[in-house]
Amino acid sequence: MSEHTLQKKVTDAFQARFQQPPAMVVRAPGRVNLIGEHTDYNDGFVLPVAVDRAAWLAVAPRDDGWATVRALDMRNDEKTFPVDRTPSSGGGWSDYPQGVAWAMLERGMTLTGINGVLTSDVPVGAGMSSSAAVEVAFAYAWDQIGEFGMKLSDLALLCQKAENQYVGVNCGIMDQMISACGRAGHAMMLDTRTMERAYFPMPQGIAVVVADSMVRRQLTGSEYNVRRAQCEQAVSVLKEHYPDITALRDVTPEQLDQHRSDLPEVVHRRARHVVTENNRVLQVARDLYENRMDHVGQLLLEGHRSLRDDYEVSIAELDTLVEAAAEVEGCYGARLTGAGFGGCIIALADEGAVTDIEAHLNEVYDAVYGKQPTVYVTLPDNGVARMA
Ligand code: GLA
Repeated sequence: MSEHTLQKKVTDAFQARFQQPPAMVVRAPGRVNLIGEHTDYNDGFVLPVAVDRAAWLAVAPRDDGWATVRALDMRNDEKTFPVDRTPSSGGGWSDYPQGVAWAMLERGMTLTGINGVLTSDVPVGAGMSSSAAVEVAFAYAWDQIGEFGMKLSDLALLCQKAENQYVGVNCGIMDQMISACGRAGHAMMLDTRTMERAYFPMPQGIAVVVADSMVRRQLTGSEYNVRRAQCEQAVSVLKEHYPDITALRDVTPEQLDQHRSDLPEVVHRRARHVVTENNRVLQVARDLYENRMDHVGQLLLEGHRSLRDDYEVSIAELDTLVEAAAEVEGCYGARLTGAGFGGCIIALADEGAVTDIEAHLNEVYDAVYGKQPTVYVTLPDNGVARMA
């Protein structure tokens, strides 16, 4: 659905439900990550793009300290919760706006009640940050209504805190930061230690192809936390030898190699993924800048193998899609994107190769799994903004 359609959809639904037009409509995008997976909770680098799929929120203030929000994609489910005190968590979709309200209250902000209508075309559970998009949309709306003037990077950190401490998912900062700070036509390199950002224009004629395996993430929460703990374990062992190390970001491949026998085998492989992946992010950014797409493609494929073999967050369906995409003439490389265990791959390809990629992925996936992936080109888009 085009963005214009979703804007109209939330605006019309708001009018019908609340008998008045919304005061504003906010759009916050989902993302795909070009490279830098599972590096953001290791103080490392990531290179995501905000995409042309987004959460849309039509909203108007009200003066009684309550929020009533309707989610069009949840069969019009509607929730009402207080915003002048901590709302109690219910475990459903409304934990995202409630978590944002909680994090803003924690910061000492006085929140205005709202009426809201929400929709999104970021697929849920597909590794494209549908939840970060919803959080950022609400945080931005409350920031605009309250005229708090928050910096977008602070807004992203606040949303991460909501997700970590209110929703209870121990994610890094990548998803919220790109939804808040993405730039059309660009990939954003983020240093998750300093929060410094640099924008790299996507080379002309190159398409970012997304192929959704249609496998929805399973066990992500628990497996994700296990990976985090293994990274921390590696740091605590290596710290005995290098006291200055505070995160895997600080570890060189040589240091890791030298202390291989000090680490459990699995922990060594997890750390090796993170350490090599950080280097790949820096190289891909440089290669994009110099338009060296062949090399970018090789690094993507290397990154996928590292996620598959060392970090063990891929699944057979994603491996099949990556291998099939890479076989097509004009495709430079592919990898799983997001946390893994399901969701999507991305491929970088010449625009002219997209039709062949789609046909080949459909054919191979159908032959192996008897089903079709959803394949489309995504356009690097802007971060959160008020659209009306
Ligand atoms: C999820 C998390 C991010 C990041 C990725 C893996 O999307 O929300 O913070 O850790 O997984 O790169």
